[in-house]
Amino acid sequence: MKGIVLAGGSGTRLYPMTSTHSKQLQPVYDKPMIYYPMATLMQAGIQDILLISTPEDIGNFVRIFEDGSRLGLNISYKVQKKPEGIAQAYTLGKDFLDTNDSMMILGDNIFHGDHSIIRHAAEDNGGATIFGYKVRDPQRYGVVEFDEHGKVLSLEEKPSKPKSNHAIPGLYVMDGEAPCRAVHLEPSKRGEYEIVDLIKTYFEEDQLTAAPLGRGFVWLDAGTPSSLNDASSFIRTIEERAGIKIACLEEIALREGFFDGDSYVRMVEELPDSPYRDYCFSVLE
Ligand code: DAU
Repeated sequence: MKGIVLAGGSGTRLYPMTSTHSKQLQPVYDKPMIYYPMATLMQAGIQDILLISTPEDIGNFVRIFEDGSRLGLNISYKVQKKPEGIAQAYTLGKDFLDTNDSMMILGDNIFHGDHSIIRHAAEDNGGATIFGYKVRDPQRYGVVEFDEHGKVLSLEEKPSKPKSNHAIPGLYVMDGEAPCRAVHLEPSKRGEYEIVDLIKTYFEEDQLTAAPLGRGFVWLDAGTPSSLNDASSFIRTIEERAGIKIACLEEIALREGFFDGDSYVRMVEELPDSPYRDYCFSVLE
């Protein structure tokens, strides 16, 4: 299973914060936003990752992660010249995916909780898997409607009259056919290759699974000033209360067994002297 982080887009809803740094580089409490989606892929056991961003921003991501080897990852990069839709990630990622199954996450989506349902979806995917998360304002999102057995009945992008309260978070598991399917999509009325249209191709062939994320799970997107602020407060509250860090990539790499304890110590020694480095050392105790 390979991973894609889609971290492009114009970020206009966060302007002027985004005048020098893209949305996914904004701080969510104590680390850049991009750490959180990276953490989700890593917690699903994924090490081979393609990061897609704009021509202006891609260099900043390369500066943060380089080739990923420091974290036991193999990271490659691809430019999306214009934000022409989320489904375009699969055509841009065609060579990288090379018939492999994939998990794609949007760079402004934050997941917190027991990741076993996500890991399970990655291990057990046939066709495509999406998730459903109950929200108060489903019209802001892709929406999935289920019957009482969890079977998908309908899928819609930002409907004015949603048929359910279940939003589709920006986390998608698809088989190796996704790039070929994405090539055949037509742009929507707003001129984008819509992720919901790609998901529908699996739905129409009865190859779509939708897994509800339960109440113990937290899904946030951080694409507006208020949701960014809420996400920061949430992360700060949990971290300070429990004395842990959420989305500490070094810690996750260690726990996932991406490298051994000695390599971990050598890698942490290279980090700038900071509370973050102190935390990374404390994990060993
Ligand atoms: O957050 C989940 C929602 O994300 C889903 O429920 C929707 O089905 C999905 O369409 C998407 O809705 P958004 O309104 O949040 O999409 P937005 O255009 O804001 O893009 C989401 C992220 O993807 C954002 O971080 C920018 C990035 N992006 C988006 C597009 C359209 C790209 O990198 N390239 C693109 O072409």
